[in-house]
Amino acid sequence: MKPTVYIKDLSKFVNEEVTLKGWLYNKRSSGKVKFLIMRDGSGYSQCIVFKGNVSEEIFNLADTIAQESSFEITGLVKKEPRSVGGYEIDVHNLKIISLAHEYPITPKEHGIEFLIDHRHLWVRSKKQTAILKIRHRIVKAIRDFFDERDFVLFDPPIITPNASEGTSTLFEMDYFDLGKAYLTQSGQLYAEAGALAFGKVYTFGPTFRAEKSKTRRHLTEFWMVEPEMAFYDLNDDMDLAEEFLEYIVQSVLKDREEELKILERDLTHLQKVKRPFPRISYDDAVEILHKKGIEFKWGDDFGAADETAISEEFEKPIMVHRYPADVKAFYMKRDTENPKLALAVDVLAPEGYGEIIGGSQREDNLDTLLQRIKEHDLPEEFFSWYLDLRKYGSVPHSGFGLGLERTVAWICGLEHIRETIPFPSMIYRNTP
Ligand code: 4AD
Ligand code: MG
Repeated sequence: MKPTVYIKDLSKFVNEEVTLKGWLYNKRSSGKVKFLIMRDGSGYSQCIVFKGNVSEEIFNLADTIAQESSFEITGLVKKEPRSVGGYEIDVHNLKIISLAHEYPITPKEHGIEFLIDHRHLWVRSKKQTAILKIRHRIVKAIRDFFDERDFVLFDPPIITPNASEGTSTLFEMDYFDLGKAYLTQSGQLYAEAGALAFGKVYTFGPTFRAEKSKTRRHLTEFWMVEPEMAFYDLNDDMDLAEEFLEYIVQSVLKDREEELKILERDLTHLQKVKRPFPRISYDDAVEILHKKGIEFKWGDDFGAADETAISEEFEKPIMVHRYPADVKAFYMKRDTENPKLALAVDVLAPEGYGEIIGGSQREDNLDTLLQRIKEHDLPEEFFSWYLDLRKYGSVPHSGFGLGLERTVAWICGLEHIRETIPFPSMIYRNTP
């Protein structure tokens, strides 16, 4: 037995015999030679089975092996710049582990519904593995960013007794004798408790919204990272969001160039994601819409098409701040200069991707916050713990939430958010 190695490490084994274990990605043959492209999760490699080099039995095996069969080969590693991955294997031995029969996803084009139905297999394909490897790198950048800056990871509950982001998108369940409970829409309210304990915290996990619309930006289950910082005002919040996005994008550019190439991503757009980002007020954004001849009423929230129209004017992510308080959440602090406005910020990604971050400075005054809870018809009894945070050592504080999947879609340049998570849940689909 020769040492088993991963395809990504082949460069260390040139002119040596190795064993590779993986799956058949593709094959072709020409007379006395069979070309088997193996994938092993770490890369792709062309394995050459030459009739003169193997027994007849092995040569015939190379014929029967079908797409996505699992197999192992032993052979000599050769440098071959023209070959996929830059190396080739001159096969001496071949063993089929499990023969696949009529793998449903063939190299021909398939419709999106068919592919999503086969998501459990689709995740093996070249484009999908590239996307999910980029997702992993983004997750690592997120954790590194906050860990390097002394934020404490603070895990909020998933099953919660109340809404934080409005009551229209709640997933409800019966919770024993305690009445209704809901899947969390955001960890923010809990993160605020954490910020008063640790100064700077972040939450990172799945969040849920019973989104009733079918769009390319909405999932019902998605991942959100939410930093929350004591003694930060809205400007400090925007400074952090800006540094954070630059860090994520530059990390992916540095470490996932190959995957971005597979996705045919235009890197010039990503290279421009460097601080500072434009900061414009909601009022300025409305003016941009009006100048473009788009009908929009002051006081409304921006729709996807509005966000696209606004962000088209810029090459970098932009931060839109100070929204009408009426379209924003109950916990946002009002602008002292104009109490109709909330100290909120949305970060809109370039190239029409729209909102990827929503954040704000939080209302820190007990009486004002209590009044907002009443105005929003929220059940006061469930917020008593949250109000305690304003009773005992309240401080100005701020935070934001970044949607992981929307960020992956933007960085990868994808049409639709459904390919950014291994198993997407949407209003019309929750299988596989
Ligand atoms: O703007 P949102 O609703 O803000 C909050 O939940 C705040 N509590 C965050 C905070 O201040 N700590 O959501 C934040 C981000 C959005 O900008 C978007 O990227 C993502 O979460 N998001 C979704 N992503 C996919 N599918 C959905 N249905 C999403 N809803 C929000
Ligand atoms: Mg939002």
